[in-house]
Amino acid sequence: MLTETVSKVEPAFEISNYAVKDEDLPTFRDMKFENINELHLDHPGAKDEDYRTRRDYIAGLAKNFRETGIITDVDYSPREQRVWRYVAEELEELQQKYASPFYLRAKKDLGITTERIPQLTEMNRRLKELTGFRLAPIEGLVETRGFLSWLSYRVMLCTQYIRHHSHPAYTPEPDIVHEAIGHIPMFTNPNFADFSQFIGHGARIASDQQLEELGRLYWFTVEFGIVEHEGDIKAYGAGLLSSFGELEHAFSDQVDRRKFNLEEVINQDYSYSDMQKILYVIPSYAELKEQTRKYIESF
Ligand SMILES: [Fe+2]
Repeated sequence: MLTETVSKVEPAFEISNYAVKDEDLPTFRDMKFENINELHLDHPGAKDEDYRTRRDYIAGLAKNFRETGIITDVDYSPREQRVWRYVAEELEELQQKYASPFYLRAKKDLGITTERIPQLTEMNRRLKELTGFRLAPIEGLVETRGFLSWLSYRVMLCTQYIRHHSHPAYTPEPDIVHEAIGHIPMFTNPNFADFSQFIGHGARIASDQQLEELGRLYWFTVEFGIVEHEGDIKAYGAGLLSSFGELEHAFSDQVDRRKFNLEEVINQDYSYSDMQKILYVIPSYAELKEQTRKYIESF
């Protein structure tokens, strides 16, 4: 498992090391994963042979990355590009109303448009310049400790395949829409980048109980976070920004939007499969970073 690999390359890693050098990185070659490319039976693409073959091919590129350290651009098909354009355009309209202004600017800065699927290589180059964050291709969902631990090196594991064309509005797992439209722009924010790295540090030393708490913190911030902005509130979480349903729902009166309280968040249960009933509003990314630093230092 990845967890063992990561703990091998520890131990002394300063929480204040915000500029991780290439030589500080563990070798991607050592990452070992189990069953990460499995499609569950209820996945919209599970019975589509062509889709499965395509996913296997893209998974092969991620494996290749671990051997060579080089990210391969995907030559996306016209059908894949159509899925992107449809989802990206729908989201863009909603985001103009609900997304954090920082996020909207960052998306532009990274060259993420509605026109075509962005490549990890181009976003990676720009991210590295801005906050020293890196993207690393991965075949699919990874277990929590392994996934979060890579954040301590300012590395985000990213899928490159796109959801099945039969259900463009829905995906049961991360895909390039979720990564590029949901997650990647926020890593250009220095405070958010440092906060993500703290979560990574925490994951490497956490007890199982603390890891569960970190998973909840990640969920209610990185995935479903809302931030105050000039007397209003805006979405910055990837699960909101990459889903039309969740984004509109988050600002409806069906959701209990609470002031962010770290102690409460790390004990708050959530559901993967239903729309969120409770969301937390942070005052600022700087405040989120500072509260998380104190929390991780208490481990
Ligand atoms: Fe995510």
